Amino acid sequence: MPRRIFVLTGAGISAESGLGTFRDKKGEGIWAKFDPMQLATPEAFARDPETVLAFYDARRRNLLSATPNAAHIALADLERTLASAGGELSLVTQNIDDLHERAGSRRVIHMHGELLKARCVACESVRVWAGDLPPAQRCPDCGLGGLRPHVVWFGEMPFNMDEIGRALERADLFVAIGTSGAVYPAAGFAAEARALGIPTLEINLEAADNAVIFDAARYGPASVIVPAWVEEVTVGLGGKI
Ligand code: APR
Repeated sequence: MPRRIFVLTGAGISAESGLGTFRDKKGEGIWAKFDPMQLATPEAFARDPETVLAFYDARRRNLLSATPNAAHIALADLERTLASAGGELSLVTQNIDDLHERAGSRRVIHMHGELLKARCVACESVRVWAGDLPPAQRCPDCGLGGLRPHVVWFGEMPFNMDEIGRALERADLFVAIGTSGAVYPAAGFAAEARALGIPTLEINLEAADNAVIFDAARYGPASVIVPAWVEEVTVGLGGKI
């Protein structure tokens, strides 16, 4: 029975909460409508901060009106049940939303940052920021720099990679939920887990780009598949949902 489970989540887990995904087979994702190189790179921010900040303002407003779904809630339950059975859940997310936390997850490792936080481009101080981020806003700490969303843009290093590496090494099960396997380094975690001899499971609406890597897969909406999978794991641990 797995006790130290590493779960990687992507945009698909928040899709049923009304937050758009970036890529899908129908070509209707966010990056099919908008050019990521014009909106999600440090170069784009330097060139045109108004447009970049407006894009994140709209996503932030959308997030504030969203609520966690059954998949987020089931993972929060799993975290508690594993902890009470002497195990652990390492919940690593590529998502910049706070739906895992709002569902009750205590330890969420955000590798691509958090939309409800802003960072000073000069002193790097980070603060909670739930409202729009005007281009003229100065850093309340140093007063020198402007503020940018505390998210990882294309071409930038993801956060918390050392902690993620340690969590992967001690895991006895790897599960990817709602991610297309299109963006590295996250897309490489399944192969790393496999190389470590850790069983791997994919939960997704459709096969991801790296689906062949996984030992097992379950396809369908996360809000249905994840609670059912958590139920199985939890019952095995003698806990209850
Ligand atoms: N339930 C389960 N999976 C779903 C659902 C759903 N309801 N809806 C969509 N999916 C799946 C899609 O099939 C797709 O494989 O979720 C995946 C979403 O893939 P992406 O949109 O590429 O999101 P993600 O993998 O998280 O993107 C990685 O790319 O744009 C950058 O920084 C951004 O963190 C993001 C990274």
